[in-house]
Amino acid sequence: MRDHPRQSGDAEPAALTTQRLALRPLALDDAPFLAREGGRPEVARNVARIPSPCPELGSELFVLAMRAAEGLRGDRVRMITRRSDGAPLGVIGLHPHRDGAWELGYWLAVSAWGRGYATEAGAAVIADARARGVDRLTAGHFSDNPASARVLAKLGFVYTDGGAGPDLFSMGRMGRTSHRAMALHIKPLTR
Ligand SMILES: CC(C)(COP(=O)(O)OP(=O)(O)OC[C@H]1O[C@@H](n2cnc3c(N)ncnc32)[C@H](O)[C@@H]1OP(=O)(O)O)[C@@H](O)C(=O)NCCC(=O)NCCS
Repeated sequence: MRDHPRQSGDAEPAALTTQRLALRPLALDDAPFLAREGGRPEVARNVARIPSPCPELGSELFVLAMRAAEGLRGDRVRMITRRSDGAPLGVIGLHPHRDGAWELGYWLAVSAWGRGYATEAGAAVIADARARGVDRLTAGHFSDNPASARVLAKLGFVYTDGGAGPDLFSMGRMGRTSHRAMALHIKPLTR
């Protein structure tokens, strides 16, 4: 599969880099990885909108929808890749809400868990958002997902749901599960 050529003047956003990672825009060629790794039950059950199994066509539509949303609304969804060789590791994204907050979401392929990648990618996305003037982020995790709770705590998020959030639907579970809501207020950059 090939990407369609982009129009001239339609510049591809630059990758955001960290010590070990490059966060680059999604491409249609990522669909097989997204479907295979995102559709694994261990991943899909912990996010809202990935079915398990996940058809490749669904991932292609996700790529197209997120790229369109970036132009229309400003959403920034990026592939998390290993900087040394470009290997895909997962996905991270920010989505604007009407109230001015931006929602952070992410997942990693199971083989990439436990190496600090989610925290490293999250810190880079937050720093980039801060540089663009974003001052409030939201995020959440299902109550039975302590790894994501820990990632968000390491990034500075705090709970905003008074101890228990509403149940949310997960396509990976095909059911509703208790969910926790968190937020991060970012200090503006001082000049
Ligand atoms: C959540 C997820 C992104 C974490 O990725 P990761 O790269 O392994 O995360 P990090 O290594 O940066 O940090 C994980 C932290 O959780 C901790 N952790 C992992 N499993 C845990 C568990 N069962 N109980 C408590 N803490 C746990 C780790 O020890 C680590 O904390 P530490 O640095 O203090 O030791 C990954 O597990 C994933 O993709 N899960 C499925 C999808 C998902 O949950 N997405 C988020 C939706 S809210």
